[in-house]
Amino acid sequence: MNSLTWAVLSILLVTYHVSHDAQAAKIVYLGGCQKGYTSEQYTTYHRELLASVVGSLALAKERLVYSYTNHINGFAAVLTDEQAYELTKNPAVTSVFENRGHYLHTTESWKFLGLEDSDGDGPPESLWDESKLGADVIIGSLDTGIWPESLSYNDHGIGPIPAKWKGTCVSGTAFNASNCNRKLIGARFFIKGYEAQNGPFNETASGDFLSPRDKDGHGTHTSSTAGGRFVKRASLFGFASGTAKGGAPSSRIAAYKVCWPTDSTGGQCYDADILAALDQGIADGVDLFTISLGSGVPLPNYFADGIAIGAFHAIENGIPVVCSAGNDGPAPGSVANVAPWILTVAASSIDRTFISKVALGNNATYDGESLSQDKLPNRYFPLVSSADVGNSNASLQESTLCFAGSLDPQKVAGKIVACLRGVTARVSKGLTVKLAGGIGMILANPPASGNELIADPHILPASQLTAQDGAALFAYINSTSSPIALLGAASTILNVKPAPVMASFSSQGPNSLTPDILKPDITGPGVNILAAYAEATSPTGLPFDTRVVKFNVISGTSMSCPHLAGVVALLKALHPTWSPAAIRSAIVTTASLLDNTGNPITDASQNIAGPFNYGAGQVNPNKAADPGLVYDASPIDYLLFLCGLNYTQTQLQTIAGTFVCPAVLPTTSDLNYPSITISNLTTKLTITRTVTNVARKSTYIATIEAPVGISVSVYPSRLEFSKKGQQKTFQITFTPNSPPSGSYIFGQLIWKDGHRHVVRSPFAVNIS
Ligand SMILES: *[C@@H]1O[C@H](CO)[C@@H](O)[C@H](O)[C@H]1NC(C)=O
Ligand SMILES: *[C@@H]1O[C@H](CO)[C@@H](O)[C@H](O)[C@H]1NC(C)=O
Ligand SMILES: *[C@@H]1O[C@H](CO)[C@@H](O)[C@H](O)[C@H]1NC(C)=O
Ligand SMILES: *[C@@H]1O[C@H](CO)[C@@H](O)[C@H](O)[C@H]1NC(C)=O
Ligand SMILES: *[C@@H]1O[C@H](CO)[C@@H](O)[C@H](O)[C@H]1NC(C)=O
Ligand SMILES: *[C@@H]1O[C@H](CO)[C@@H](O)[C@H](O)[C@H]1NC(C)=O
Ligand SMILES: *[C@@H]1O[C@H](CO)[C@@H](O)[C@H](O)[C@H]1NC(C)=O
Repeated sequence: MNSLTWAVLSILLVTYHVSHDAQAAKIVYLGGCQKGYTSEQYTTYHRELLASVVGSLALAKERLVYSYTNHINGFAAVLTDEQAYELTKNPAVTSVFENRGHYLHTTESWKFLGLEDSDGDGPPESLWDESKLGADVIIGSLDTGIWPESLSYNDHGIGPIPAKWKGTCVSGTAFNASNCNRKLIGARFFIKGYEAQNGPFNETASGDFLSPRDKDGHGTHTSSTAGGRFVKRASLFGFASGTAKGGAPSSRIAAYKVCWPTDSTGGQCYDADILAALDQGIADGVDLFTISLGSGVPLPNYFADGIAIGAFHAIENGIPVVCSAGNDGPAPGSVANVAPWILTVAASSIDRTFISKVALGNNATYDGESLSQDKLPNRYFPLVSSADVGNSNASLQESTLCFAGSLDPQKVAGKIVACLRGVTARVSKGLTVKLAGGIGMILANPPASGNELIADPHILPASQLTAQDGAALFAYINSTSSPIALLGAASTILNVKPAPVMASFSSQGPNSLTPDILKPDITGPGVNILAAYAEATSPTGLPFDTRVVKFNVISGTSMSCPHLAGVVALLKALHPTWSPAAIRSAIVTTASLLDNTGNPITDASQNIAGPFNYGAGQVNPNKAADPGLVYDASPIDYLLFLCGLNYTQTQLQTIAGTFVCPAVLPTTSDLNYPSITISNLTTKLTITRTVTNVARKSTYIATIEAPVGISVSVYPSRLEFSKKGQQKTFQITFTPNSPPSGSYIFGQLIWKDGHRHVVRSPFAVNIS
């Protein structure tokens, strides 16, 4: 280091000294564990390293939160910023980062995806049929835990636990090993990272269980979506009734509880706990991870993000990691969990809705959506707009949005209240109305939510309307001195068209961390999904809601993520030797761009959706089983990618020993990804891809669909494969031929073998 750098560092050190000497849990990432060392040796090493900055081994022992010793090498400890900074100077340290809190990205769907036929089995040659329903694949779920009594985890007729399984069921409050079985084969909980941030966990105050048991419902819903067994006659209050099942009904489930009740900062699932769970899950023998949680933008870099680090070590061990894209849409650039070694999942609707008709005094009627259990008598009641019935201390915005405590009981009692969707939870607006004495709620979308209707198990009779219908509702209220409305009982409607439609809440690209990687990768069902639930909570989770349900209908990329995890489990069962990248490629290159009307998939505002909404499109599991070609990538490819992003060689060597970054750094666009993104195309650019033949001998011809503004060519444009496993490399050249437009343009590269294989890669290019 030269003297200038030293000077800069000393200034930084002084600044740190002055402004932040508070202690907080931090994660010290030391790369990967090497073979030949024991856990004890690693823990001793971690304590010594920690002692070198905190002053003594005794203090180090006290400050240590976790020591990661299986696959991830590192520890979590309570440190001052200055001590953390001291550690970053040690070349053995890959990174030091805050223990941040992430949050949760809160059965008909399998049939909709073409896996199931009318008798509930897989049609012949479907992925369900060929993978034997994902037999014996072990799905590790990082979430709020599990409700083991749910029938989705019954082990009737299931074979012995796979011999390779090394996991266990940890006891705690209301949970012990007898809650596990041949279906639910592992259950652990990790809370030290949460406690390091929030103080000792108080079970009484939180109502949560200090054990793998799920108090929230989210973890039970997600894991049963990925791998739940067939449960006949499942429904929520009779809605969505039928046989509930996960994507891979014959898989095994291991629950890793890492999320706890929301703290004052909104954090629930802390990096230190996530890393501990992933390090343990890899050692336990999990075959894939499903993680329906994450953060919003700004995204931390890859070595300051517990999910990205843990996922890297998972894929190094051949274990795919599927994550939710987040629910911060439709804002551009909102997508989370963007590491290229993760499969990032957006959310879209299925062909099922729950209609609750709204009729107004002017005889207009609208199809709203609801899962309200309570019904109003089938007649008209007085109707008010919440904006007109706010109490004296609420602002107009607060009453318009039906914030808690914003309505005047004297003006609301006995009436149906029209509220605007947004900012607060939809079901909590119903609670506001109910507590003020209202008898029903009509929830109107703001323009940004367009036609997206989410059916919720409201705690009073309620119906949600599209933005257009909502505008008509408010206009009607204004048009008359005594508005009235009739709220019809909700019912389940199947074969809805169009579907899928992208959910407006689904987080969108471009990728704010690495713009040259397309994220999300794919979309799957995430709107109004029925799956198992925890019986320690109510369907809304609201105070005053005392209902208990075995199944619940909820929405989010949290719900689409385990759908993709289910598909990954099936592909793992069918192709046990495929790498995580090969599985992702199979899913991405076979995705569908059309909805069930045969037209391009749209968003909630009826615009045609694109790669920043859905990546490559809607998952098509049966096609993914036989993709023809795959764009494979190894852990080394990801390290090369990180070299190109200016992660230092010293950092990368902590992960991969003798790894050396090449003299000419690779460009991000060159990572062998199944999609192509060029965020800054200023002049002609050629990038390289390699495909591996995973089917029989065949010849593929390339076609390009390029938008106006660029010309794209492929060389060679014909690839001959004489056998399975053969690899071929080709080049794609992008030439801008129009001035910058300030926005991305999209196209696709398609390889066809003239038979059934169509290998499609979307591309996104920003000419600048
Ligand atoms: C596990 O919990 C069940 C139910 O509370 C109890 O009957 C059983 O004895 C416990 N088993 C063990 C090994 O503690
Ligand atoms: C835990 O919470 C309960 C209820 O809020 C309270 O009475 C109790 O004192 C708390 N325990 C501790 C150790 O703080
Ligand atoms: C609504 O329909 C009823 C019955 O058909 C009719 O009597 C009434 O006049 C109509 N009201 C309006 C505002 O059109
Ligand atoms: C004022 O607002 C609070 C909630 O912010 C509510 O609890 C209170 O009842 C309101 N006051 C009146 C007069 O409605
Ligand atoms: C209804 O009237 C209120 C003011 O009285 C106005 O702010 C609002 O825009 C009107 N809404 C419609 C849909 O006309
Ligand atoms: C990496 O560093 C080089 C040289 O400092 C710089 O030109 C390049 O933009 C950096 N790349 C990224 C992705 O930060
Ligand atoms: C795009 O590339 C040009 C030329 O390489 C460079 O000058 C410019 O800074 C880049 N813009 C961005 C946003 O990276």
